[in-house]
Amino acid sequence: MEEFNKTFVTEFILLGITDLPQLKSILFITFLMFYLLSFVGNLSIVAVIIADHGLHTPMYMLLCNLSFLDFFYATTTVPKMLSGLLLEDKKISFQGCITQLHIFHFLGSTEAMLLSSMSYDRYVAICNPLRYQVLMAREVCFQLAFTSWLIGFLYSLFHTILTSRLPFCNMNEITHFYCDIKPLLKLACTDTHINESLVNIVTGSVALGSFILIIISYSFIATHLQNIHSKQGKSKAISTCTSHFTVVLLYYGTAFFTYLRPATKNSLEQERMTAILFTVITPALNPIIYTLRNKDVKRALRKLVLQSLLVKQIQYY
Ligand SMILES: *[C@@H]1O[C@H](CO)[C@@H](O)[C@H](O)[C@H]1NC(C)=O
Repeated sequence: MEEFNKTFVTEFILLGITDLPQLKSILFITFLMFYLLSFVGNLSIVAVIIADHGLHTPMYMLLCNLSFLDFFYATTTVPKMLSGLLLEDKKISFQGCITQLHIFHFLGSTEAMLLSSMSYDRYVAICNPLRYQVLMAREVCFQLAFTSWLIGFLYSLFHTILTSRLPFCNMNEITHFYCDIKPLLKLACTDTHINESLVNIVTGSVALGSFILIIISYSFIATHLQNIHSKQGKSKAISTCTSHFTVVLLYYGTAFFTYLRPATKNSLEQERMTAILFTVITPALNPIIYTLRNKDVKRALRKLVLQSLLVKQIQYY
């Protein structure tokens, strides 16, 4: 009889962030602002770096990758969440859900790899400046970027295949605002202990691996800074890596805050809240951090704006 009643799920319901109607409009406006900010901020950085030949250096090409990624990262989850808040449009097809899960984890893990590549770039620039042209040649930089995207893609493919093969029947309400692995594992009508362990092990090793690479780069940088005696030299070296360091703190700070806590009964509920940090807030803050602390980006941005204004004027006459 029970078998007979089983229907396989063809679509999921994303329950979203909140059920409270009073909160919905406030959250909608707040998240819309953050989304617009990350939209404009990240695409401006991509445009500025592509347009300005002075910025075609490894550091800025990797930053260009990061902004390009952040734009899509926010776009994978936020518009769907906003339409859930405003229009009560909570349905997502099975394929849509799996696609969202894949892109979200693909971009999220690629970001970790890119941050590691960027820390290597900063290590070479500060500790080995004379060999920078060789060690961070165009091809090397391209390989670093390409490998980051490739590992991110394969890592995510692994999760996507494992999750999409689970049987889902009867229950289809996801207690989250996007399709993530753990909420889906909770819904599967089979024992998912092996999946859960695999997710923890694989995610943990990718996150830890890229984090350790960053720690190693920054320990070399820190040791090197102690040996620089001129104040000017020191502050110049520091100023070239503060933006990157801030972005790293933001990324790993929110990731550890979300995932490295004892699993309690409410942990899924809390994960949903803290997920707002890295889906909505971080992608909007990254371009601000890089623009505010960086003279070259500011200069190139001014140039680009002036140029486009000038073009408009010429067209006008
Ligand atoms: C990413 O970085 C690589 C390496 O420099 C560069 O060739 C590529 O154009 C960049 N892609 C994007 C989208 O920024």
